[in-house]
Amino acid sequence: MESDPQLRALAARLAAAGRLSVLTGAGVSAASGVPTFRGEGGLWRTFRAEDLATPEAFARNPRLVWEWYDWRRQIVAACAPNAAHQVLARWGRRPGFTLVTQNVDGLHELAGSPDVARFHGSIWEVRCRDWCAGSPPSWTDRTVPLPVLPPPCPHCGGIVRPNVVWFGETIDPRVFARALAATSCDVFLTVGTSALVYPAAGLVHEASRQGAFTAEINIERTPASDALDLALQGKVEEVLVALDRLMEAATAPEP
Ligand code: OAD
Repeated sequence: MESDPQLRALAARLAAAGRLSVLTGAGVSAASGVPTFRGEGGLWRTFRAEDLATPEAFARNPRLVWEWYDWRRQIVAACAPNAAHQVLARWGRRPGFTLVTQNVDGLHELAGSPDVARFHGSIWEVRCRDWCAGSPPSWTDRTVPLPVLPPPCPHCGGIVRPNVVWFGETIDPRVFARALAATSCDVFLTVGTSALVYPAAGLVHEASRQGAFTAEINIERTPASDALDLALQGKVEEVLVALDRLMEAATAPEP
C-alpha cells in the first residue's frame, strides 16, 4: 500500500500542512466493532437512524429510542479504540491540528485525542428532556445497561434524553464555530463518513472554497468524492497507519 503514488502524495501534503483538519464518521469506529449507521449492519431491528434519532421519535416513544441508545452504549462500552483512532490521537499533538467528529462513542477521547470537536454530542452524556431548573445542562452517565428506560431525571422526576444532536436539531454553536474555523486550513481530510448528513457533510466543501486541499478515505465512493481533490478507497484503520508511516519517513532527519 505504501508504494501507492496517491497515498505518497497525500502523505507529503499532510506532512507539510501547517493547518490540518480531519472530520471523522462512523467508519472510523467500524474496526472497533461499533456498528455504522448506514450500509451493512446499519439497521437496528427494522429502524433506520432517521426513524429514531429525532425529537419527534423521542416524543412519540422515548422507551424505544432509549432501547436503541442503550443497545449502542452496551456495544461501545465493550469496544476499544483501533489503529485509526490511535493515529489521529498522535496527530492531535501537532500544532494546527483539529479533529471534528460526528461520532458519539467517545473512542477518539479514549485513544487520547485532545480537544475533540464533538459535532453530534456524546452517547455518554444525558440531560433532562425538559431542561428542568434543578438539573445541570448535561451530565455524564456511563451505566450500562441502564436499569430503567427511559431513565428518570434525578432532579425533577421527568425523563432524561441522550445529549446528542438529533435530525432537525441545532449543532452546539460553540462546536459549530470550532468546526467552521477548522475549514480554514491547508488540508481537510474526511474519513469513514457517508458524507450524507448536513451540516457536517458541508464542512469539506467549505474548506475547498477556502482553498484547502481536500481528501477522503472510505471503503467506497461517497456523494462528496467527485468534488474532492482526492478520494482514496480503503479501510481507514489501514490507510491512516500507512499515511502516518510515510509522514514519519518524510519528516525523519537524514542519517
Ligand atoms: P454512516 O454510517 O452514514 O457512514 C459510515 C461510512 O463509513 C460509510 O460511507 C462506509 O462506507 C464507511 N466505512 C465503513 N467502514 C469503514 C472502514 N473500515 N474504513 C473506511 N470507511 C468505512 O456514518 P456517518 O457518516 O458518521 O448522526 O453518519 C453521519 C451521521 O448520521 C451520524 O453522526 C449520525 C447518523 O445518523 C445522528 O445521529 C444525528
